[in-house]
Amino acid sequence: MDLSVQIGPLMLKNPVLLASGTWGFGEKLKNYINLGSLGGLVSKGISFEPREGNPPPRLAETPCGLINAIGLENPGVKAFKKYILPEMLSWQTPILVNIFGENIEEFLKVAEELKHEPVAGFELNVSCPNVAKGGLSFGHDPEAVKNLVSELRLFYKGFLVVKLPPVGPVFKVAEAALNAGAHALTVANTYPALAVDLLHRKPALARGSGGLSGPAIKPLTLKLVYDLYRQFKAPIIGCGGIVSGKDALEYIACGAKAVQVGTATLLDPENPKRILQEIAEELQKLQETKISSLYAALHLTDNKDKAK
Ligand SMILES: Cc1cc2nc3c(=O)[nH]c(=O)nc-3n(C[C@H](O)[C@H](O)[C@H](O)COP(=O)(O)O)c2cc1C
Repeated sequence: MDLSVQIGPLMLKNPVLLASGTWGFGEKLKNYINLGSLGGLVSKGISFEPREGNPPPRLAETPCGLINAIGLENPGVKAFKKYILPEMLSWQTPILVNIFGENIEEFLKVAEELKHEPVAGFELNVSCPNVAKGGLSFGHDPEAVKNLVSELRLFYKGFLVVKLPPVGPVFKVAEAALNAGAHALTVANTYPALAVDLLHRKPALARGSGGLSGPAIKPLTLKLVYDLYRQFKAPIIGCGGIVSGKDALEYIACGAKAVQVGTATLLDPENPKRILQEIAEELQKLQETKISSLYAALHLTDNKDKAK
């Protein structure tokens, strides 16, 4: 079974990556699964300075999802590079570093610090407030995304993917990212959501609202992948609520080249391995020998239907 995929210039042995922030830096997960067997690993979000994140409670469960407001806790790029990245690179699978900042300069400083490291590329998390624009999220501001990607492209020629928020002017932001030189889009981050603590008449999370992930969001993000592929025909990494091989193949059929598994890893550390096995099994059931046969398959049907 040929599970290899190509996303712009990036070759992966299979389409299953781990999503940013849902597996730490692998400190514990490495004891459960062979991280090197996965298609790739996306690091926790890295900023220039260390960040403590939000105070607890930072997680609330919903019937088929999880609301989080971790607040992008991380050790900062210098400690990441010195103490964490070397082990990640030893896992023999492509590492994408997820980076973020509160202004363009901060994003660029993180990328500068890492540009000579043998990582497979950068994933830009634009779902964070741009202080220079009064806290308006980068991901809601196509102009800011255009400037960010263009400035990064002046000194970084490696693989670059922009991770979109699922709400806001998503198509305009996607267009800005691709036109400015991003190779691909990760679709998508979490959905704005609220959990309530009725007893104390307040939000359940200390920060107030958070981001919803897990199976609840799968049909919503699938639709975004489907529509974004139709619009741009650009490489997409699908991410949202994947818990089975079938979920992953649905994303691929809608136009994703590869997928990221997030909350499912928190549910059971062996889930990424199981999802990868199920992809091969499902493909066999569908009588396919390579994953690329399913790529954007829904759109082919679309065209046939239209031609009738
Ligand atoms: C606890 C937690 C922490 C996360 N941290 C990050 C992060 O640091 N950077 C980022 O781009 N996305 C982060 N995300 C979003 C995930 O990478 C992913 O986009 C989202 O959870 C949807 O996928 P899923 O439904 O498979 O979890 C986080 C999600 C969770 C649940």
